Amino acid sequence: MKAAILLAAAATMALSLSACSKGAGEAGKGTSAPLVMGPASEDLMKAARDQFKILPASWKDIPGNTATDDQVALGAMLYHDPRLSGSHAIACASCHNIGMGGGDDASTSVGHKWQEGGRNAPTVLNAVFNTAQFWDGRAKDLYEQAGGPMVNPIEMNSPKEHVAQQLQSIPGYAALFAKAFPGDSSGITLDKAQKAIAAFESTLITPNSKFDQYLAGNASALSADQKDGLRLFMDKGCSACHNGINVGGGMYAKFGVVAAPDAKYRPAADKGREAVTHQTSDEYSFKVPTLRNITLTAPYFHTGSVWDLKEAVRVMGKAQVGQDLSDADVAKITAFLESLKGDQPQVQIPILPESGPDTSRPVRE
Ligand code: HEC
Ligand code: HEC
Repeated sequence: MKAAILLAAAATMALSLSACSKGAGEAGKGTSAPLVMGPASEDLMKAARDQFKILPASWKDIPGNTATDDQVALGAMLYHDPRLSGSHAIACASCHNIGMGGGDDASTSVGHKWQEGGRNAPTVLNAVFNTAQFWDGRAKDLYEQAGGPMVNPIEMNSPKEHVAQQLQSIPGYAALFAKAFPGDSSGITLDKAQKAIAAFESTLITPNSKFDQYLAGNASALSADQKDGLRLFMDKGCSACHNGINVGGGMYAKFGVVAAPDAKYRPAADKGREAVTHQTSDEYSFKVPTLRNITLTAPYFHTGSVWDLKEAVRVMGKAQVGQDLSDADVAKITAFLESLKGDQPQVQIPILPESGPDTSRPVRE
């Protein structure tokens, strides 16, 4: 089992490395100065460099699509436009608030007509570096993911044809789409809306965390407790799954790989990735979540059942590495996790084009 985990982890590292060499440092929207990699001044730093990667200062690409500034600007508008929902009350930003770590500070999100879905809203920050999207990985990238929520009846509840029609009815969008997709005369389509949203999301990264500063060579960026926590995180096996550029996000793993967690953390009703692959071996398997900015994104787990990060660490110790972690070790690991908070993306709330005479009125049924 352990060998399989490590193998998968090695594959993840290779993947995040190649993802990063492509286009890192291109002009995105980041404001942080790029961290310059210096010599590793201590063994712990050397060991950490083998398992994790520094986030670039800025980013602006999803695999297979080089985003332009015009696409990013259009995507920012669509991301904040509640008219993409049937009720005109819900935008992507409602459940993925960029000012709150890219989540919604709730166990499960409230969508159309106060309905709640079954899972916690994961952060959109750094999601571009995840190997797949959703807790069960059912969307392969941000483009594919963006097609989901608008038409989902318990999220934004817009019928599929309605999304493009609605955007076509808002006069100002025509020119914005034309500018974002020059040389393409097909007008406003759902496909282009998804591309633009994905382009915008790809810029939402959080560079320059204390941990990245440490990886870059600044030995004093982490406190003594945080260094102990990092060592424990690697020695206890947490980093067999939470590794690479996103300290997670690169593979799937069973929640309960060593010991089944309590049903409040892992209810029987949600079998995770099994619903996607129909393989019994994927029962209760979930995408290993990123731990970047983890202090901003409570509550934790796909159920959002845990508000206290220390409790989440303790549950992981037992369920994933088969250990009852001492309070001191939990505190140190948690201190290390605090170092994963990076510079938050500064996004200006976009001014949206005015509704036209044919723009549909909100439907709250
Ligand atoms: C009603 C709340 C809600 C709205 C509105 C919403 N989302 Fe989500 N989002 C969620 C939930 C819940 C999940 C996790 C669902 C799952 O994994 O099955 C999710 C997952 C995601 C993910 C996957 C992240 C990851 O690491 O797996 C991305 C990216 C995302 N949403 C972007 C968007 C975009 C873009 C929009 C607007 C088009 C949007 N969301 C609208 C609640 C919402
Ligand atoms: C075998 C792979 C694996 C190992 C080892 C592992 N984790 Fe996890 N971790 C996961 C998975 C999968 C989840 C998502 C569980 C869920 O919600 O279904 C997760 C979730 C988490 C979360 C909650 C993240 C969130 O956004 O909700 C934290 C915190 C965490 N792990 C920390 C740790 C720590 C600390 C260790 C070591 C003691 C560890 N993990 C070991 C796979 C692993």
